[in-house]
Amino acid sequence: MTFSRAIKIAPSILAADFADFGAECAAVEAQGADWIHVDVMDGHFVPNISFGATTCAAIRPHIKGVMDVHLMIAPVDPYIEAFAGAGADIITAHLEAGPHIHRTLQAIRGAGAKAGLALNPGTGLDGVENLLDLVDLVCVMTVNPGFGGQKFIDMTAKIRRLRSMIGDRPVHIEIDGGVTAETAPLVAAAGADVLVAGSAVFKGGSARDPAPYGKNIRAIRAAAEAAL
Ligand code: DX5
Ligand code: ZN
Repeated sequence: MTFSRAIKIAPSILAADFADFGAECAAVEAQGADWIHVDVMDGHFVPNISFGATTCAAIRPHIKGVMDVHLMIAPVDPYIEAFAGAGADIITAHLEAGPHIHRTLQAIRGAGAKAGLALNPGTGLDGVENLLDLVDLVCVMTVNPGFGGQKFIDMTAKIRRLRSMIGDRPVHIEIDGGVTAETAPLVAAAGADVLVAGSAVFKGGSARDPAPYGKNIRAIRAAAEAAL
């Protein structure tokens, strides 16, 4: 993974056909996805359960590029080895998931993955400053995590401040939740480079009829790039 601030579109397979993840991942990659975003939910940290490390390992051979695993679970630490072993390139944990996020980020890097730090909409940037040298990505949630298809919450001011805090560090800013061709320009202009999109990518298509995926990805990318 070479670092770049170019706009990357990361479809969230939370909006894909759960009975056909392998074909869905291959289809969105063939249609122009840069990363595949994999949402893990435990029914405890967030009010919904998706799937775990075994599913991630099963999906892995169907992804050619980056597997970006977003852990919406608490605790995180007992599961890091399992997700690294499943082949995650990036493992993102929530700042709110426990009292020792610093240790968690160290453990993620120690397991050989890139480390991501996710922030709920209600969380400020105070706690982030001391972690910036431990992370490869900060994920600014633009919905309260737990479900796909929610309405975008404007976090533009937070993204802008985060972008200036990051400075020259090779740290991605990822936006997750409610990203569409309408909201992508706002977050791209504020400094985001990774745009997660679930419903806005998977709407209208399927693994057997993937052309709509390509159209959706191109629309989000074009809108984001036009704002730069
Ligand atoms: C929310 C997840 C997101 C979400 C994105 O808990 O982390 O990745 O599924 O889906 P959309 O793009 O539909 O908001
Ligand atoms: Zn996510």
